[in-house]
Amino acid sequence: MKKIGVLTSGGDSPGMNAAVMAVAKAASLYGIPLVGIKRGYNGLLRKSPSLFDDMEELHLDTVLDIADRPGTYLRTARCTEFLDPAWREVAANTLRAMGIDGLVVIGGDGSFHGAEYLCELGIHCIGIPGTIDNDLAYTEMTLGFDTAVNVCVDAIRSIRATSRSHDRPHVVEVMGRHCGDIALTAAVSTGAEIVLCPEEHWAVEEVADRLNRQMAKGNYRATIVIAEGCWDSMEPFDLYTYLNTHGKRCYEGEPMSAGRLASVMKRMCNMVEVRSTVIGYTQRGAEPTARDSAFAFEAGHLAVRLLRDGISNQVIGMREGKVFYMAIDEALREEKYFNHELYNLVNAL
Ligand code: F6P
Repeated sequence: MKKIGVLTSGGDSPGMNAAVMAVAKAASLYGIPLVGIKRGYNGLLRKSPSLFDDMEELHLDTVLDIADRPGTYLRTARCTEFLDPAWREVAANTLRAMGIDGLVVIGGDGSFHGAEYLCELGIHCIGIPGTIDNDLAYTEMTLGFDTAVNVCVDAIRSIRATSRSHDRPHVVEVMGRHCGDIALTAAVSTGAEIVLCPEEHWAVEEVADRLNRQMAKGNYRATIVIAEGCWDSMEPFDLYTYLNTHGKRCYEGEPMSAGRLASVMKRMCNMVEVRSTVIGYTQRGAEPTARDSAFAFEAGHLAVRLLRDGISNQVIGMREGKVFYMAIDEALREEKYFNHELYNLVNAL
């Protein structure tokens, strides 16, 4: 390995900086120069007027201080150009021109596809899973997932405290795109009574029944934790007609949302108030937990060691609590496991 590059790509996730620091530490240990590439794969397309906008030499002392910071020092972006083979060629040529023969890619599945493409063009690549969603099947955890869950747990605990004071249910939306892992783990960790995830079909009326059952037992503060993608698996529901015939204005075609679900629950359960909160980007911009930072440290180090040893086209993950690596294509072919049993347990009673 003459020189290594590192980039962060896709949505930022807590722990990305810690991983970059770990890569820098390992590179320094093995005496391999390191270049940080900015804004994901965009930094390889040479569209910026100055090279410094696209990349910078990374020394350990530059990045030592960023390890515990949220966000990503290298910046991040999604790069649609990478779908085009001609742009991928540009990226590979940039790396060659810079003398970079190995690349550490920290990101999610889209970023890993990008790494695969670069491997086909002769660039050695290693992927580190960086996304709060935990939507990569081959690994038990992705960088940022634990932090995001902890942000949600803190928020839901506070929400449940105020819900208790007011005896009113609350709908809480968390992130996760098409993956319900954040919602399910946060629900389990807070004792939330209802959880809705894209992996399980559900119906509005059935959720109202469950909420009614909670209130019949005197539990008026029941919390409904929903994954942002839960609408994908909702049975058809005529929101427009329902709300307009129950005293709430609604526009034709208006999509279901956490706020709208709260309005519907209020009416179906005859409650005076049902509130909603969308936790949103606070989940992504938090300081990494010890678990995420520790994973980042091991993964960053392993990535450089693999490149040094001439091993490429691999992604790093966690299995049974141990950091491991496997081929990118195999990893991306694995089917995501969702804990249906746990889901049913949260929603039981
Ligand atoms: O990074 C993952 C994620 O936070 C998803 O949970 C969410 O759906 C998406 O990114 C939001 O992306 P953007 O930053 O483009 O709004």
